[in-house]
Amino acid sequence: MNIVLVGTQWGDEGKGKIIDLLSEDTDIIVRYQGGNNAGHTVIIGEEEFILHLIPSGILRPNKECFIGNGVVIDPKALLEEIQMLRDRNVDVGPHNLHISKSANVIMPYHKLTDRLREEEAIGRIGTTKRGIGPTYLDKAGRVGIRMVDLLSETQLTWKLKRNLKEINLILQKIYGEKGVSYDQLMEEYLEYGKKLQDYIKDTVSLLNFHINQKKNVLFEGAQGTMLDVDHGTYPFVTSSNTTAGGACTGTGVGPTKIDKVIGVMKAYTTRVGEGPFPTELEGEMADKLRNAGPIGEYGRSTGRPRRCGWLDMVVVRRSVLVNGLDSLAITRLDILDDLDKIYVCNKYKYKDTYIEDFPEELEILQNCTPVYEEVKGWKTPTAEIKEFTKLPQKALEYISKIEDLTGVPINILSVGPKRLQTIKK
Ligand code: IMP
Repeated sequence: MNIVLVGTQWGDEGKGKIIDLLSEDTDIIVRYQGGNNAGHTVIIGEEEFILHLIPSGILRPNKECFIGNGVVIDPKALLEEIQMLRDRNVDVGPHNLHISKSANVIMPYHKLTDRLREEEAIGRIGTTKRGIGPTYLDKAGRVGIRMVDLLSETQLTWKLKRNLKEINLILQKIYGEKGVSYDQLMEEYLEYGKKLQDYIKDTVSLLNFHINQKKNVLFEGAQGTMLDVDHGTYPFVTSSNTTAGGACTGTGVGPTKIDKVIGVMKAYTTRVGEGPFPTELEGEMADKLRNAGPIGEYGRSTGRPRRCGWLDMVVVRRSVLVNGLDSLAITRLDILDDLDKIYVCNKYKYKDTYIEDFPEELEILQNCTPVYEEVKGWKTPTAEIKEFTKLPQKALEYISKIEDLTGVPINILSVGPKRLQTIKK
């Protein structure tokens, strides 16, 4: 069975934990888009792992992990992540980590321009400043440097020379910065190539070979549907296809090979960075959601406090459509445990009209008001519950309401950060 797992909101839905859970029955785990802007948290016993680039499946023995062509890779960050895992006795090497030759490389000038653009007052996206956008810009502009280029001095030479001619002009003339040094970059990136050469492979052939051998593959989405460059709250999005289709283009596996798509949805909504968020809360209620539970709502990659709000079904229904979701996994249900009342937005009001289908107009998203349905809270701790039928009646009603409003079954519930705090329906 080949499964794609995606975030249904603005990322940070708790995908890391669900991926870890599903990877138990999986042979291969694959990242297909994004880069080290992601932060997937997995808690095993008393140990917490935060992975930014390497699929979280690496934490289980005898699994193979892939970083597909759709991912953008900062080789320095990748080498540091490999070292961090090794220091913590996790087995990582070219035998269980395969990196696509065609994945684009994040260069220092990408990080620099990401930061410089963010410092402009107009049009801030609130990016992670990891160089993600500028790297995808170069990829689409056909001037990207790919992982395989780090293995060839001649390829890297002409690409870097060509790119630096332009980028140094931009840095100097537009931003008043110093340019970047060709010699220094060449030396540094060829060295990364040497260190990573055994990992860099034809992952298209290798992955399809495993699929033809009937191995189970889990495609691990990063970020969330509303951050998709096509389907999200554009332009306040990341620069990749975070939705299920990205799993095919980002790995070279055809759509006929995908058996199932699972969406991960937090029991409420959060977002980091700028951009519209119709159900956003402020003040005491936002703080309550942000600080409840053992892990608060603070970015895993950047430490930024996340914006918090009620569950938005207009958003999740759009996710059901664009990902073709078969089922949902709900996370952080326990965060709602002690609330008297919970609110679910099922439509927006904009001027005199009600909107049930996700609007693509930024103007509407920024100025609509959410229309809420009130649900009574269950006021019972759920963190230790192990069986679906043992959940409080009101929690079951909340879950069945979500199923009704999305038309999709909920098969997995997470009631805490630990592996065991998971209920399968
Ligand atoms: P970028 O991906 O760094 O270019 O950032 C673009 C937008 O996506 C910003 O709003 C970020 O906060 C957001 N973003 C990127 N990665 C993640 C993530 O893993 N979780 C949540 N938001 C993210």
